[in-house]
Amino acid sequence: MDETDISFFKDGLRLDGRKADQLRPVKIEVGVLARADGSCYIEMGGNKVIAAVYGPREVHPRHLQEATRAIVRYRYNMASFSVEDRKRPGPDRRSQELSKVSREALEPVILTSFFPRSVIDVFVEVLQADAGTRTAGINAAAVALADAGIPMKSMISSCAAGKVADTIILDPMKEEDNFGQADLPIAMTPNGDITLLQMDGGLTPDEFQRAVEMAMKGARDIYELQRDALVKKYSQMVEQPGREEVHVCD
Ligand code: CDP
Repeated sequence: MDETDISFFKDGLRLDGRKADQLRPVKIEVGVLARADGSCYIEMGGNKVIAAVYGPREVHPRHLQEATRAIVRYRYNMASFSVEDRKRPGPDRRSQELSKVSREALEPVILTSFFPRSVIDVFVEVLQADAGTRTAGINAAAVALADAGIPMKSMISSCAAGKVADTIILDPMKEEDNFGQADLPIAMTPNGDITLLQMDGGLTPDEFQRAVEMAMKGARDIYELQRDALVKKYSQMVEQPGREEVHVCD
């Protein structure tokens, strides 16, 4: 099957009924793992992803230590049951690439110089995949870092745009990603500083411009949801009777 075999639009709407510039439904839950320092579960459409953050903590093996800053490790892993054809367990080239670009998307906002000789470990487990797992993983990891209390200059939010049937679309799902003409994931700060930009396929300069703008708009909307999820968790914590009092500043 290739893109010519698929009808991506019906009555102007996409295969799942979305408009071209519409995100899939997003659900974010903070602090879902008792033993992690910070954690987050996210659903972005058919993607189900969990992120766990540990640290800052001692580095093993020790030769990886940096004298003036914390190192950040990011492990993206896809469960073998997360995709249609069972994925062979363990690291492969794809997960190594996604781990690297995801770490690089987050590292610029983490105040690593506060924690010399330590490590901040980020684990991202994809439980169910439907295209956009790297963006979902980055969104969950950024929230989990905040939940762990790691000092950050800002949040990071991530979203992709794509091209199917010569139309620029937001947040491609699997059929659109696999059989479309282009996929362009980005990650950025709320100010619009981009920390990840990748592209598969081909876009004209004008299409590229529109796709980046669309993905940035999607990332801004996701930022609001990340913030809401954190605020929800911590305001409940303050209200819970019997807990140590927590002071929240405006
Ligand atoms: O997930 P993301 O879009 O960040 O990365 P991708 O490499 O473009 O993969 C797109 C999608 O292909 C994944 O989200 C999965 O739904 C699917 N996939 C798969 O079915 N089996 C794999 N071994 C890898 C990816």
